[in-house]
Amino acid sequence: MAFETVAVVGLGTMGAGIAEVFARAGLRVIGVEADVEALARGRGHVERSTARAADRGKLTAEQRAAILGRITLTTSREDLREVDLVIEAIPEVLDHKISLFQDLDRICKPETVLATNTSSLPVTAVAAATGRPDRVVGMHFFNPAPVMRLVEVVGTVVTAPGVVSEVCELAGRLGKTAVPAGDRAGFVVNRLLLPYLNHAAVLLELGIATRDGIDDAMRLGVGLPMGPFALLDLIGLDTAYEVMEVLFDETRDRRHAPSPLLRELVTAGLLGRKTGHGFYGPQEPPKEPEKSTVITFGIDGPDVHGLGERLRASGFRPSDSPDTVLRCTDRPVIEYAARLSDPTRMVGVHVVGDKVAELAGTALTSPGAAKAARDLMRVAGLVPVSCKDRAGFVADALLFPFLNDAVRMYDAGYASIADIDAAMRLGCGYPAGPFEMLGYLGLARVRDGLRALYAEYREPAFAPAPLLDQLVTAGVSEFPRS
Ligand code: 3HC
Repeated sequence: MAFETVAVVGLGTMGAGIAEVFARAGLRVIGVEADVEALARGRGHVERSTARAADRGKLTAEQRAAILGRITLTTSREDLREVDLVIEAIPEVLDHKISLFQDLDRICKPETVLATNTSSLPVTAVAAATGRPDRVVGMHFFNPAPVMRLVEVVGTVVTAPGVVSEVCELAGRLGKTAVPAGDRAGFVVNRLLLPYLNHAAVLLELGIATRDGIDDAMRLGVGLPMGPFALLDLIGLDTAYEVMEVLFDETRDRRHAPSPLLRELVTAGLLGRKTGHGFYGPQEPPKEPEKSTVITFGIDGPDVHGLGERLRASGFRPSDSPDTVLRCTDRPVIEYAARLSDPTRMVGVHVVGDKVAELAGTALTSPGAAKAARDLMRVAGLVPVSCKDRAGFVADALLFPFLNDAVRMYDAGYASIADIDAAMRLGCGYPAGPFEMLGYLGLARVRDGLRALYAEYREPAFAPAPLLDQLVTAGVSEFPRS
């Protein structure tokens, strides 16, 4: 089927972005909203986004005008009679979606493919409510739609053979990579991403580290394009909350229960970028630089992160009467601190990537030693992230369960290794997919980290996936690729 005219119903952030994507690819687009005010807001989204691209020299004024000229706006669904494809991007309320699809089914010509951009709701339930379940699919874009290169194309048990591949080909015309997915809550990306984001909110609530510390650990340490709280603000806290609810309903996995902090912020109307305030406020106070202290320090145990060398290069030398004792470890710091005559001096150090040093203070660490350790890390050219002495500290505690979930997803036969890796790279801008990360981190290290997390939190989902465990036992160093 040749898709030439498409309609996008719902022109919020995602819908407007999707409309722009189609118009950029040369298709005619009809944008539909409930009223003229909402239409004007949708138009504003596309105008700002294309203006930004024009300002950066990515579009000429003529190209921009042509894109805007391909988009017409209406408040009447009846105008969609002749379109080849409709994409729905209205809020995530199943009853509203079903009623919209029933309307579209009545209005559109029989060949029209009806697609939902739902983040997590069942496509099958939407399809079954129409008289053309064989021509209903999920077409899930990622925020910001003009930038992220992934589209998940979700077929159901009743989708006609050929419709999924036609929609995948269309995604290619849009300059996107399509990853076909089965109709399971969260599909590939949200099933892996949202539990990680939710877990970050849980760590924040537990006081394991601060918002900025957690974002720094994941962005600067792990190398993700955004920290979890900046990303939650981009996605919208309400959207994240809704996806978590759907995941929890399907899995009853308590890790999927939305964090109470998310609920509180959503109830307060702090939804992220769309309301100008979420985890980050509109006007963040400038960060006060901490005053440096005069420090004597020592390094206990093997200096696996080369801290001595880094500090010596800046003129700092370990001393025999140290005020602060650094211990490089990914194990509980308190075990080492308890062996010192003065345990208040010890701070655990875990370097993540080559930019971030997690600094784990124990229940006994003195504020002076904690502060001195932060100063020392800055001297060593590392961004300090203070955290509690808990298994996995921050980065491993967030990253390893995500990797474990990816292994379980593959092992369940839901998606291939190549598709899971591509989905996370193209949908979320990750520098590497989870299986690529497992390869360079080492399967044994991740397995052992998960065992430590499980031993500490007794959370069943943190127990290493049996496949991961077996590969380590068999001495395999990375996941076999077909
Ligand atoms: N709309 C349009 N274009 C945008 C944009 C927006 N909202 N935000 C950024 N861009 C463009 C910029 O114009 C720029 O384009 P150029 O390279 O052609 O000049 C490019 O994106 C990079 O932008 P910036 O230089 O301003 O900023 P960054 O380099 O920091 O990138 C980012 C911003 C692309 C958002 C990057 O941080 C990123 O990839 N973040 C991860 C986003 C992510 O994970 N998205 C998926 C969320 S999950 C989801 O959507 C599913 C849903 O169901 C919940």
